[in-house]
Amino acid sequence: MLRRSVLASLAAAAPAILTVPAFGQRYPSRPITLVVPFAAGGPTDLMARIVGERMGKELGQQFIIDNTTGAAGTIAVGKVARATPDGYTISIGHLGTHVANGSIYKTLNYDLLTDLVPIARLPSNPLLVVSSNPVPATTLKELVDYIRANESKVSGGTAGVGSASHLGALAFFAATGLKYQLVPYRGTGPAVQDLIGNQIQVMVDQSSNSLPHVRAGKMRAYAVTAKARSEAMADIPTAAEAGYPMEVAIWHGLWAPKGTPPEIVNRLNAAAIATLKDPDIRHRLEDLGQDLPTPEEMAPAAFAAFHRAEFAKWKKILEDANVKVE
Ligand code: MLT
Repeated sequence: MLRRSVLASLAAAAPAILTVPAFGQRYPSRPITLVVPFAAGGPTDLMARIVGERMGKELGQQFIIDNTTGAAGTIAVGKVARATPDGYTISIGHLGTHVANGSIYKTLNYDLLTDLVPIARLPSNPLLVVSSNPVPATTLKELVDYIRANESKVSGGTAGVGSASHLGALAFFAATGLKYQLVPYRGTGPAVQDLIGNQIQVMVDQSSNSLPHVRAGKMRAYAVTAKARSEAMADIPTAAEAGYPMEVAIWHGLWAPKGTPPEIVNRLNAAAIATLKDPDIRHRLEDLGQDLPTPEEMAPAAFAAFHRAEFAKWKKILEDANVKVE
């Protein structure tokens, strides 16, 4: 009797169960928060807004940009690592926030390799060595001579220890033997404003952030930290051509908290791939010096393998250079 009534109630419930769409199809049913670890107006924020807006259209839900700044991105990444793994809170980051910080900050309350799930690799751009306009140099060699003669008066901007601009400054110090004061900002968006105003004189900053200001004549560019010149800035020599070899590429990516269902990661990944196929998005990013990854490189497993390899490579570089924050 009891068995028959249990079967009857299961049978009554069956149509309702069958009409519930598969998990991945239900998602997303509300806006997605994209946590940006640096200030608005900077390169990570710009990437988040360009990619997020298009991904939102792809998924039928808006991406809300949340600029959680401070401590070179570690506050934002910690927030996402501890978020509910439901696909509604994800982070954008780069070589600094998701690789270098793991070796530099000894007391992080998250593990970059195990507490986050890679969603998709995003474009990569080189750094530009730039100065404020009052600095009287026209080549990288002249800039180096000027800084050497004025080391105590020159200061540079970064987004904090471990940020992309800090890794750039370290590469510049290693290539030139220079060492000037570094001023930490909540992102290189605000830092370039101070460079334009000559409150700071030098930056080694992502091309996507500096290039528009260089084109507008608001600052000078001396070299690009890439193996070859970029089409978007063909008149700027490589650092090697300019006499001080440096190669650093700042790649970006999207991550979700550990435990996010694979169906959701795959939906987000598909939206990111569709976004970078859009000719308008490609043009906007390439015009800022960004190199776009292929769909194969963007796949979650390929990105996870790339992330791990970069982590091992930079761990050694940063340990050899003894860069750490206790
Ligand atoms: C930013 O978005 O402000 C930058 O990515 C900061 C940096 O890492 O240099």
